[in-house]
Amino acid sequence: MNDRFLRACRRQPVDATPVWFMRQAGRYMPEYRALRQQYSLLELCRTPDLAAQVTLQPVEAIEVDAAILFSDLLLPLEPMGLTFDFVKGEGPAFDDPIRSAADVERLRPIDPETSLGHVLQTIRQLKPQLDVPLIGFVGAPFTLASYAIEGGPSKDFARTKAMMYAEPEAWHTLCGRLADMAGTYLRAQIAAGVDAVQVFDSWVGQLGPADYREFALPHTRRVFDAIADLDVPSIHFGVGTAMLLEDMATAGSDVVGADWRTPLDRAWQLIGTDKGIQGNLDPTLLLGPWSRVRAAVEDIVSRAGGRPGHIFNLGHGVLPMTSPEVIQRVARLVHSLTSTAR
Ligand code: CP3
Repeated sequence: MNDRFLRACRRQPVDATPVWFMRQAGRYMPEYRALRQQYSLLELCRTPDLAAQVTLQPVEAIEVDAAILFSDLLLPLEPMGLTFDFVKGEGPAFDDPIRSAADVERLRPIDPETSLGHVLQTIRQLKPQLDVPLIGFVGAPFTLASYAIEGGPSKDFARTKAMMYAEPEAWHTLCGRLADMAGTYLRAQIAAGVDAVQVFDSWVGQLGPADYREFALPHTRRVFDAIADLDVPSIHFGVGTAMLLEDMATAGSDVVGADWRTPLDRAWQLIGTDKGIQGNLDPTLLLGPWSRVRAAVEDIVSRAGGRPGHIFNLGHGVLPMTSPEVIQRVARLVHSLTSTAR
């Protein structure tokens, strides 16, 4: 078992910096696009044989040090009572978004074994086939609430913030229920066999620090508290969080993810060197010339300074236009720049 990813999560010395890529399974891979000709995204997510196959695609094609479960952030919202579909070219679309306190009241707690058994089955099927750790994941309450309220992607998150400010009680009830779901779901993924977990708070960079502390942080902290008694490393990730990193570091994870807007050494100072850091190459840089990619990777590695606890990743997910060859070259370069083997 290649355990350098888990060792880095625990800030132990490693033989080379571990690398994985958010959205490492997906449309930039020809193998994935071929399967999508036959199946919808939700069919891939809900069929353990297919979800396991897609999870393995990048592990087989690219020298990554961790696998991430192929699923989607929004899946556990359905058993809570929020039905949706993925609309081609637009993203998720919910049938009945949350617009009032009464809508919040209709949300139900989930039992992962009955309503998300296919995800747990995917984990059980994958484990014996992997020689790298498997990462499970869940959405943080703020990011999940934003989809539940907006009903789909949003630019300004106006409805989300309107509920936050105008109906704080309904907001906190909603996020409390999402936090309970997230804790329950992560515990079930861990019981099924995932080796580490990541909490995605992708859109929390919409909030300033005071609002973050009031409306998001207490709920995210509850998610990490729910798994604190289990010896499973956790990563806390968001985008546009330069002003939030210090507060995010208090939510309870072992590792905090940073995007490319903050130089890695500066981000690590803000997070605190008693935690690990994950990141932080700009995913759009991978569309540029190799000389520029190489220089940016070297810069990140040198800012990590050989300190234990760095997990190399992008600052957000791989874009569909990216060439798989570039992804592979980045993984090799990180390993060769940081290898302690002589
Ligand atoms: O490889 C991996 O990282 C694992 C799989 C994974 C998916 N979604 C599959 C997927 C993970 C970890 C996610 C998380 C997710 N889903 C997030 C948080 C991560 C992030 O990017 O910040 C969010 C916000 C979602 C919700 C979601 N799923 C949206 C908004 C969309 C549509 C936009 C898009 O990129 O197409 C999806 C679709 C989705 N989820 C795809 C994949 C591979 C694209 C799938 C396709 O059409 O084939």
